[in-house]
Amino acid sequence: MSDKCEFPAKPARNISRRSFIRGVIISGAAVSSTGYLFRTSPLLAAMPHRIGVSERLITLTVNGQQRRADVNPQETLAWTLRYKLGLTGTKLGCDRAECGSCTVLVDDVPHYACSVLTHTVRQRKVQTIEGLANPNGTLHPLQQGIVDEQGFQCAFCAPGFIMSAVGFLKQNPNPTRNELAQGLSGNLCRCQDYNKILTSIMRGAEYMRRS
Ligand code: FES
Ligand code: FES
Repeated sequence: MSDKCEFPAKPARNISRRSFIRGVIISGAAVSSTGYLFRTSPLLAAMPHRIGVSERLITLTVNGQQRRADVNPQETLAWTLRYKLGLTGTKLGCDRAECGSCTVLVDDVPHYACSVLTHTVRQRKVQTIEGLANPNGTLHPLQQGIVDEQGFQCAFCAPGFIMSAVGFLKQNPNPTRNELAQGLSGNLCRCQDYNKILTSIMRGAEYMRRS
């Protein structure tokens, strides 16, 4: 298996399934591995052709914070988030715009972070799974829905699904189950747990409408 596919170790016996899922959906930390908005990112076209050494030191806005990083011209946002900023909740699965594991929001729109060059998002607002819960620890309503319905099995795909769903629900806060399935069609689950994932996110959407 590729070293990019860091499937999780089996949770310790004294960790409940609920707390395991909770850990993943807050930060992605418990695991170590749309159709409508994804595929080829227009951000790729915005890449400057030549970047000098001094210009590699850039400031990014991630989860509401200004973060400095030394970023190579060809570096993807997924790489920068995971290996320069330590935000490993963003997963790398295929690394070629197929699985959706790496989904983050750029200016509130879901993007495959493996297919966005970091230099193209310098003036934009990036949100990852780590930035979803309230700093006081209160879960985002979507995260709470997933905890309550115990969505996902291994949960490797969970951060990507959640960020896609947050972006989709901004556009369509009250979707039918079929609309939601269509909206999340750019995300794949290797455990094939789609029914439960949809049920969890439908519950989360309901919480979002109430909040
Ligand atoms: S890792 Fe980016 S789409 Fe699969
Ligand atoms: S990949 Fe395991 S729950 Fe989706």
